[in-house]
Amino acid sequence: HVIALFAALAFGYLMGSIPFGVIVTRLSGLGDIRKIGSGNIGMTNVLRTGRKDLAALTLLGDALKATVAVFIAAFWAEGAPLAAGLGAFVGHLFPVWLGFKGGKGVATYLGILIALAWPIALAFAALWGATAYLTRYSSLSALVASGATPALLLATGATDRAALFLVLTAMLYAAHRTNISKLVRGEESRIGQRG
Ligand code: G3P
Repeated sequence: HVIALFAALAFGYLMGSIPFGVIVTRLSGLGDIRKIGSGNIGMTNVLRTGRKDLAALTLLGDALKATVAVFIAAFWAEGAPLAAGLGAFVGHLFPVWLGFKGGKGVATYLGILIALAWPIALAFAALWGATAYLTRYSSLSALVASGATPALLLATGATDRAALFLVLTAMLYAAHRTNISKLVRGEESRIGQRG
């Protein structure tokens, strides 16, 4: 059982560490996304290249890699889906291929949530969308949606998943520390703005 959990963690990590933002921008001849805009590898920064199609592909890839990892691990052992989810998130934030400098985790967080509690994933998407519509801040939208997620899970009685997402939210907030100080100073760039 312990071996299955470690295998799920490692498999999740490998899946999560695939940097779709880096791959799709490089394949499209745009160069290294880490040298554009904020330097982040996620959807929001890929959007700064003006390529909405590539931004959508980045969101899709960074989310679904985690969804797939969690679903596959579900065949292995009880608790393995949670371990795969944790692994995928850590893999996205700290991918070995990019010298452990990965993304900020929003799409991957959503992908894990889709696999583990899809109704709450809908709530996450609605909160993200509403905040983005009202403020045009991608980072703030992620902070609001992921801030609410552990409480929503707890309210549905999913204690183990609430605990996992509390950890993921803490890591997501830490990954957004630069965005948070820019928000506080009023210097954060809006969605689609060159950052
Ligand atoms: O959650 C939003 C985050 O992805 C912001 O990205 O590129 O503005 O730092 P960026």
